[in-house]
Amino acid sequence: MKVTVVGAGGNVGSTVADCIAQRDFAKEVVAVDLERKDGDKTFYPSKGRALDQWESSPIHLFDTRITGTVDYADTAGSDVCVITAGVPRKPGMSRDDLLEINANIVKSVTEQLVKHSPDTIIIVVSNPLDVMVQVAKEASGLPHEKVMGMAGILDTARFRSFIAQELDVSPKDIQALLMGGHGDTMVPLPRFTTLCGMPITHFIDEDRLNEIVERAKKGGGEIVGLMGTSAWYAPGAAAAQMVEAIMLDQNRIFPVCAHIDGEYGIDDLYIGVPVKLGKGGIKEIIEVELNEKEQQLLVESAKAVRGTLEDFRKLMNK
Ligand code: NAI
Ligand code: 2OP
Repeated sequence: MKVTVVGAGGNVGSTVADCIAQRDFAKEVVAVDLERKDGDKTFYPSKGRALDQWESSPIHLFDTRITGTVDYADTAGSDVCVITAGVPRKPGMSRDDLLEINANIVKSVTEQLVKHSPDTIIIVVSNPLDVMVQVAKEASGLPHEKVMGMAGILDTARFRSFIAQELDVSPKDIQALLMGGHGDTMVPLPRFTTLCGMPITHFIDEDRLNEIVERAKKGGGEIVGLMGTSAWYAPGAAAAQMVEAIMLDQNRIFPVCAHIDGEYGIDDLYIGVPVKLGKGGIKEIIEVELNEKEQQLLVESAKAVRGTLEDFRKLMNK
């Protein structure tokens, strides 16, 4: 089983590769990035990080062979490809500010990946996420169930970790659901959030819960404000969890940026919804009954994603 991670000379991509290797379920991880020129020197960040990671194998006790490359021929026959290539946010930037530059990067990376792995499954991480998944879908020609984006696992992980901190309980016992686009309009769903199956609304009063919801929605920006660039540990772990679910055919239920057409009353759009993830990619879109307010928030989020998608179309037709 072979996984390719593109952008693996950078923060999120190298973390994805590292998390996959440490979970030790894949035979091979190919880490791709560009070469970097500095004066008369040429550096190879993906080769350097991959070598460093492989050198940790006797300590972490994994067999997954990680290799770095700048040549897509080395990615041939990948079962899953993760795309993290692109530019991250700087303070004051929204995810949508990355649209034009990352769209061009994701398009060209996708084309090169499918040239060598025509049946692969693609997980996009680059931002603005929901639109970048659409870009990868169009550039790859793969069916919808094989092209998806990572955001919901990260956003719910933030929500779950804040709730665990609030209640002083293990984050393992907090389950949560979140839908919508990966942006300010994302929709955490307290009504579908539990402490070991018990509704979270029994443990945290509404005002405090709303504060936690707001913190989760702005969780990406909180990290950018602290570090001057965006997060990578939780995003990398989240993308690796999706790869694992697919490669081990786990049928995990995760919030994933997936294509819906009619579900939740929304037509033809990539957006975050709960799915069943296993061999072959997305096996099922799961529809839960939302109340009026939740549905309205989801529709508003879909509207925001569609707005960014329209901006992308305009940019491409300029
Ligand atoms: P980074 O700058 O550390 O790494 C990005 C890497 O992409 C760099 O090493 C760069 O050389 C590489 N790259 C750029 N163009 C390329 C190309 N044409 N081919 C191959 N590699 C190329 O950035 P970081 O922090 O790793 O973030 C990567 C992306 O992931 C950003 O767009 C960021 O906004 C997004 N992100 C998305 C999250 C999500 O929840 N979906 C969470 C965190 C980050
Ligand atoms: C995050 O949520 C920037 O999308 C990235 O951390």
